[in-house]
Amino acid sequence: MNKLSRNDIPMCDVMEQYRQLKEEMDAAVLRVLASGQAILGPEVTALENEIAEYSGSNHAIGCGSGTDALLLALMALDIGMGDEVIVPPFTFFATASCVHRLGAKVVFADIDPLSYNIDPKQIENKITPQTKAIIPVHLYGQCADMDAIRAIAKKYQIAIIEDAAQAIGAEYRGQKAGTMSDIGCFSFYPSKNLGAFGDAGMVVTQSESLAKKLRALRVHGMEPRYYHHYVGLNARLDAIHAAMLRVKLPHLERWTKGRIEVANRYDEYIHAARLDSILSKPTRLPDRRCVFHQYVVRTPTNLRDGLVQHLKQNGVSCDIYYPLPLHLQPCFQSLGYRKGDFPISELASESVLAFPMYPELTSVQQMRVIDTCAQFIHKGRVAA
Ligand SMILES: Cc1ncc(COP(=O)(O)O)c(C=O)c1O
Repeated sequence: MNKLSRNDIPMCDVMEQYRQLKEEMDAAVLRVLASGQAILGPEVTALENEIAEYSGSNHAIGCGSGTDALLLALMALDIGMGDEVIVPPFTFFATASCVHRLGAKVVFADIDPLSYNIDPKQIENKITPQTKAIIPVHLYGQCADMDAIRAIAKKYQIAIIEDAAQAIGAEYRGQKAGTMSDIGCFSFYPSKNLGAFGDAGMVVTQSESLAKKLRALRVHGMEPRYYHHYVGLNARLDAIHAAMLRVKLPHLERWTKGRIEVANRYDEYIHAARLDSILSKPTRLPDRRCVFHQYVVRTPTNLRDGLVQHLKQNGVSCDIYYPLPLHLQPCFQSLGYRKGDFPISELASESVLAFPMYPELTSVQQMRVIDTCAQFIHKGRVAA
């Protein structure tokens, strides 16, 4: 990432929330240091209870990262060699890498062009007798079409794991992200909507038996001490992150509303600058609450790289989530996919552009983002 100077606009500002809550956060860290309990323990248990309540889940199990959460979820469902798992190709790497790492086969199904989430219509013809699970991703903070996905899973008796890493607090027809499947996975990576000060994650489930297994799996499959029922992981959550997340969680709703306001303002400024046809705004599906982990526009493919360069030269950060769909990643070559296999994901990779997004972003900063885009786009039009 380019080094930012003082007036530049970052993609996200992890220090701002620390500034807001400094006293409480410092006290929380000192409380953990004084307790001598560095890993798991009462802070982690308290956070688990609070996240369970926030998300409407019966059980929450803290773990080391969102990636650990996905691995634990797959392991709890006994997914491994010989099994197939259906995932979208347009997502962060971990959604698919966890499947691959456990020896199961990654089977991609293309996305819906409006929501960028897995398209239920693409799932059914990918199902074989080996299919064990589907992992819908609630990309950018907007839920996948869970009713349609659940209907398919029920018909074929396969499991669903929600990758809700980007979507804590998001809703689908009134239901919270993470609670519409067998197991939901959250990431508390620092730049996430609820971010720790390091790696952290959580799995949630309504099932008591899965919760018990997940708890054992995160500590080497051990229960009780030194008796191993499963070959688990070291995927424990540190108390220091749990304590800091507990300070932040009561503010999550306020921050989420802030993100939604930021997104509304971007929509308004793009429209006011008459850029709707060039920067096409994110589609908000009517029955969902999008928590805008990212605000992502779609640009004409021949314009995007120039626009990215222009924004960066003018101190406006932007990013591309994600520039190469997973079926074309070098490490997945052995799966045998080729360019053209998932055209909607490929086009998304060539055209999406994320603008700075965090709850404290000001209208002045946002106007600068859109004005800077307008300068570039209008200059191009005059030159053309
Ligand atoms: C969609 C998605 N899945 C999984 C992960 C993995 O989470 P973590 O970085 O906490 O391991 C991320 C984080 O970037 C993500 O965005």
